[in-house]
Amino acid sequence: KQYLESIPHATVWEGQILPGGVTTPDKMKAMQDMVFDENDVIIVSYPKSGTTWVSEVLSAIAYEGNTEKLKQVRMDERVPWIEMDHRCWDPNSPVQASAKGPVRDGKKQIWFSHLHLDYLPPTARAGKCKVVYVARNPKDNAVSYFHFHRLTTFMGLQKDMKWNDYFPLFCSGYICVGNWFKHTLDYWKFTRNNPNAKFVVYEDLKKDLMGEMQSLEEFVGIPLTPEQRLEVVKHCSFDSMKDNKMTNREGLAVFDHGETKFMRKGIVGDWKNYFTVAQNEAFDELYKSKFEGTGLSFEFE
Ligand code: A3P
Repeated sequence: KQYLESIPHATVWEGQILPGGVTTPDKMKAMQDMVFDENDVIIVSYPKSGTTWVSEVLSAIAYEGNTEKLKQVRMDERVPWIEMDHRCWDPNSPVQASAKGPVRDGKKQIWFSHLHLDYLPPTARAGKCKVVYVARNPKDNAVSYFHFHRLTTFMGLQKDMKWNDYFPLFCSGYICVGNWFKHTLDYWKFTRNNPNAKFVVYEDLKKDLMGEMQSLEEFVGIPLTPEQRLEVVKHCSFDSMKDNKMTNREGLAVFDHGETKFMRKGIVGDWKNYFTVAQNEAFDELYKSKFEGTGLSFEFE
């Protein structure tokens, strides 16, 4: 209850907490009518799993490696957030009338969303467009999301939030966007043996960005040259994205970069600085109970 009250204008809809500044029940319904086709790629993720990173990589592919051109358009313009950006779903918007995104000067229109699979617009679920799901090990995901609550107005800019108060919310799923386990496992099943869907993992991007990028190129059907690939890998490094005003989300009114940054640490294993021994044991039990037999596992360091 306390959490719900701390999120500005939140509504509970079909058991989900919807932050008012981002989405509303009306928007959730309107989004169901969005029409996607083969020119669209939707990146879907639980918040803080590397959405922005994959958005930049896929944008660079859509722009055929032209990073100079990419640097001229802000991320939120070229990769609109479906449930936030009224231009995506508003039936009166000229953009929606053309059934395309706000910016489409690359070869594909890239979108992103945090919607659970159950609420992804039916044309996307039916394979009319490509879907890329980005997942991250849940311990680091939880820590990053904790900091995000302290960063953004749509989470109530919770500068005083304590890790120990937040941890049970993440575990129970009583939190904006809901249950991490359900989100991830539903999309894991959806992407299995689905030629229009791909499951991408943050820890794999950290290990081999070049290889993961090549696989994304194949998936969307836009091959880059080895030179372009080298340029894009450099352009998409954490340090480069952190300093790039078009990707680091600085200057956006909904973020207060005083306490923490959107581009915060960009590492694997930061959870060790937050989880107590007891929390870690409890989380491992929960993870085991949810993941046993699914064929999915994460690396935590
Ligand atoms: P941390 O808070 O752990 O640093 P999202 O885009 O889904 O909101 O995810 C944000 C997380 O991805 C943040 O994690 C951010 O630092 C990290 N990230 C963004 N770009 C990255 C990059 N190029 N390399 C590594 N991590 C990156």
